Amino acid sequence: MDRTRKQAIRLGAGVAAGLGAAAIAWAGIAANAEEPADAKGDFETMIIGGGDVTDGQYPWLVGLGSPGEGTPYERQFCGGSVIAEDVVLTAAHCVEESVAEDLVVFSGAIDLESEDVVETAVADLHVAEDYNAPVAMSNDWALLKLAEPLDVEPIALATEPEEYDLLETAGWGDTGEGFPTTAQWVEVPFVSDEDCEAAYPDEVDAQTMLCAGDLENGGVDSCQGDSGGPIMTPAGEEQVLVGIVSWGYGCAEAGNPGVYGEVADFNDAIEEVLAGWEG
Ligand code: ARG
Repeated sequence: MDRTRKQAIRLGAGVAAGLGAAAIAWAGIAANAEEPADAKGDFETMIIGGGDVTDGQYPWLVGLGSPGEGTPYERQFCGGSVIAEDVVLTAAHCVEESVAEDLVVFSGAIDLESEDVVETAVADLHVAEDYNAPVAMSNDWALLKLAEPLDVEPIALATEPEEYDLLETAGWGDTGEGFPTTAQWVEVPFVSDEDCEAAYPDEVDAQTMLCAGDLENGGVDSCQGDSGGPIMTPAGEEQVLVGIVSWGYGCAEAGNPGVYGEVADFNDAIEEVLAGWEG
């Protein structure tokens, strides 16, 4: 598959966003893309450190890709979460350079090479107006209005910012050994705002970002290609969407947690866009 192209799309998005350190971190990943996974010494296996998503585990998990030639696997470049039958929540940095016609959503199968993948066109796109303010990557969220409703169970959004215990994240991003065809998931410990601000001085906006990862040991994280996808917490039998994969320095490195858009902070703004689309 065309990994170079996938990297280029992501890198392009980062550079276009005029990011400082986050873009540099991505560039680091891109430079390492053709090297064996262990060349850098700090990667473990899967999403980073996880395993295959099972059928039905996260029905709302979707891939975001470009329309056209090639398999869904070859065209996927970000993740997303279905939050209403015809609405997907993703990261602003995944789509800020796009118009709706540039985007398709892959749902219905965890294996992007499977014949069961449903490809759906995007009819409308809303990028957070305050994306990149007050700091780079603040408010990293966007909504996609789909051309057709999906036959997929949506995930509920977190409404109050909280200190979580255990979180789960998932996607088709880099495992450290390349891009998997089957979505991966991993449990990641919650990192407090205070610890995250200390890890990334001046780059974390605790209002709109939340952090997760094993600060001490590394080894579990989301990574390039997972952006836009969910970080979730269990609430009884259900899962609640608490964040959106956004950025990090490298992936799964000790001391450098993953940073996520904090859904509870922009819940109201999301509801407003949804109401507008319904009306
Ligand atoms: N920005 C990346 C993407 O576009 C996601 C990076 C997540 N990094 C991390 N260490 N958790 O796919």
